[in-house]
This record gives sequence, structure tokens and C-alpha cells, in this order.
Amino acid sequence: MLGNFVYSNPTRLCFGEGSLDRLKGELENYGGRVMLVYGGGSIKKNGIYDKVTAILKDCGKTVFEDAGVMPNPTVEKLYEGCRIARENEVDLILAVGGGSVCDYSKAVSVSAYCEEDPWDKYYLRMEEPDNKIIPVGCVLTMVGTGSEMNGGSVITNHETKLKIGHVFGDNVFPKFSILDPTFTYTLPKYQMTAGFFDIMNHITEQYFSDTDDSTSDYVMEGLMRSLIHSSRIAVKEPENYEARSNIMWTATWALNTFVAMGKTTDWMVHMIGHAVGAYTNATHGMALAAVALPYYRKICPYGLEKFKRFAVNVWDVRPEGRTDEEIAAAGLSAMEDWMKEIGLVMKISELGATEDMIEGIADATFINSGGYKELTRDEVIDILKESM
Ligand code: NZQ
Ligand code: ZN
Repeated sequence: MLGNFVYSNPTRLCFGEGSLDRLKGELENYGGRVMLVYGGGSIKKNGIYDKVTAILKDCGKTVFEDAGVMPNPTVEKLYEGCRIARENEVDLILAVGGGSVCDYSKAVSVSAYCEEDPWDKYYLRMEEPDNKIIPVGCVLTMVGTGSEMNGGSVITNHETKLKIGHVFGDNVFPKFSILDPTFTYTLPKYQMTAGFFDIMNHITEQYFSDTDDSTSDYVMEGLMRSLIHSSRIAVKEPENYEARSNIMWTATWALNTFVAMGKTTDWMVHMIGHAVGAYTNATHGMALAAVALPYYRKICPYGLEKFKRFAVNVWDVRPEGRTDEEIAAAGLSAMEDWMKEIGLVMKISELGATEDMIEGIADATFINSGGYKELTRDEVIDILKESM
């Protein structure tokens, strides 16, 4: 393993069916004024809202609601949340929802007392918070992003057509997260499978880099095998607890910083996917699914050994009688078959992208250098065209 690192993760997880019972104990660690953040109303339909508000009431908290956090939360919504948090001097932000609600809550937590425009400071200039940070706790209802145990916070600015993630340090990680797999049963299939690909892609973004022997790569192979196995069950039986709980746990470990230790990481599928999202407002996991294969096929020759290993160790491709290139290609074909089997979107055109957007999407794509090949702008355009 190459690279020195310091590792810690401050988020306390309460995992499993019935784990909402732990919320009361967690709330006791904070003051009386709680900002309850949620999305477009799914938690009211499935009863989670009633359960959470009953616990808040039982704990004697004064609750300030901030509803309507949209998928891919916007900068305008962030300004609104900052106002609510600041004016009511909240002691805790309780996020009840998916990655968008958790990400948004973290953005509000660092921005409420920020004296400048938080979009400029945190998302354009990528500075770290030097003001008061409001603690965040999460009750997760959608699986995929890993936001429940990381410092990631992605905000979209539709006016400038930029979707940018800031990965904050552990002072911004949720203080606690409640993970009850049964809370994810009501997810529509489209969201559920988008989340499955988000998890897969978080792992591959960290797997396809470096050439040294790294424990993190072996851990990731295990996580991918578990995800593939459980996802096949979950698409047929959405209420299979064993499958949904394994997927929830895999999602958390895929992006809670653990498997990135000692590695450089790539994140180019996410960079292209976010640019697609800024133009189309596509569901995050589907934007990734639509660009991943053209990207991996393009960089495969530069990281051939790892793509071969991926084929054999993750997809059980038999190497006998095949060239290295054929083995690697068979691995990516196996991933393609799995993606189609679980029902992912394979083209950005199906997400609303049109030919006239391609140049703009390429311009909105941040180019990273941690993977096997640093892309040129023309190569980004090739990938986007292959996904039309
Ligand atoms: O808004 P409501 O009504 O709650 O509906 C949501 C939303 O429409 C619905 N939903 C969530 N839980 C549900 C449910 N519907 C029924 N039953 C439930 N139990 O699902 C829809 C999507 O929710 P959202 O939170 O947007 O999805 P996701 O968890 O995929 O989050 C996406 C956001 O996270 C960012 C993405 O870019 C995107 O903005 N990411 C955050 C990351 C991080 N923090 O590290 C990393 C990721 O790569 C990603 O970029
Ligand atoms: Zn993602």
C-alpha cells in the first residue's frame, strides 16, 4: 500500500430495523432547537415523518421545518435554509431523507453563519469553513450516496449550469446517522436502482487507480461482489431485508473515506455525470450509469492490468485462452449485462441531453488526474457522443 494517511470517522451509525428507537438518545446530546430538513414529501406518505416528529415532541424539542429539498439541491434553496437556521438559532439540523437532504443539511450547517456567499466560498473557491458549524444528524431513507457518513455536499447552480461537490472534513460529517433498511422499501424502482449504480460507481472510481498491491482494492472487490449479488435479489424482491440491509451497509462503506485510504482516486465518471446533471437535472445514479461504460472502455488500455483483475475477481470471467484485452473487455461486458438486468439508463439522450448541449457539458466537466488517463476535452466529447 502506498501513501501515508490519517484515518478517523466521527459519524456514529445506528443500523438495522427499529434503529429509529436510538434517535431519542442521540437528540439528548443537543440543545432544544432542531431544524427538521426533508424533501418533497415521501416521508409524509410512508409514515417516517410522523415517527420522527413524535420522537422530537417526546424529547421536548422546538422544531423548525425546512421542507421541499429537491433532488440535486440548488443554491437558491441553500440560501433559504441558511436563513431558517440562522434566524431560529438552531442547535441541530436533523436531515430525514436521501443524499440530497443530507448533502443540503451539511451545506446549511457550514453556510448559515458564513459571512460571504457560500456558493463562492465553498463551491467555487473550495475553501474550508472558518465560522460556526451547526451539527447535523441524519435519518437515511434512500441508499447510494454515502452522505450519511461522509463530508460530501453537492449543490447545483442552474444559472451557471454547474453542479459541484465539496468534500468537507470530519468536522462536517454527520454526528450520527440512523440507518433502517426497511425505510428504503418505499423507494420507486428507478431511484432504488439509480442508487445501486451510484454505489458501484463510488467503488470503481476508487478501484481504478494505482498499480500497487493495496488492501483497499481487495475490500472493494468484496463490496462489489456483495452489491451485485444483493442487487439482483432486491430488484425482484424489494422487501428482501437481507438484500436491502447488505446494500445499505455496502453503500456506506463505499464512500465513507475508508476504501480511499492509501490510494489516489479517479472520480471522472462523477465529474462527467455531474456536468450532465447540471444540464438535465438527471437522477444522479442514472447520469453516472449513462457515461460509465464509454469512459471505462476509453481508459481500459491505460489500466489494463486492473481491468483484467476486475473481470476475474469481481465478475468471475475465466481468463483461459483469452488475451489480456479480451479478459478486460469481458469484465466490462459483464458489468453492462448487470446494468441492463437491473434496469439502468444507458444513454444520456434518455435523460434529456441533446446534441446542442454536448459542448457545454464538456466545458462544465472538471478534469481530474487521479485515474489511469487524464482525459482531454475532445475525449470527454467522444464519451458524451457515445452516450447519445
Ligand atoms: O424528496 P422526496 O419526496 O423525499 O423523494 C425523494 C427523491 O425524489 C425520493 N425518496 C427518498 N427516499 C425515499 C424516496 N421515495 C420514497 N421512499 C423513500 N424512502 O427519492 C428521490 C431521490 O432522492 P435524493 O436524495 O435526491 O437521492 P440520492 O440519495 O441519490 O441523492 C442525490 C444527491 O446526492 C449527491 C448527488 O449529486 C445528488 O445531488 N451526491 C452526494 C454524495 C456525497 N455526499 O458524498 C456523493 C454522490 O456521488 C452524489 O454526488
Ligand atoms: Zn455518486
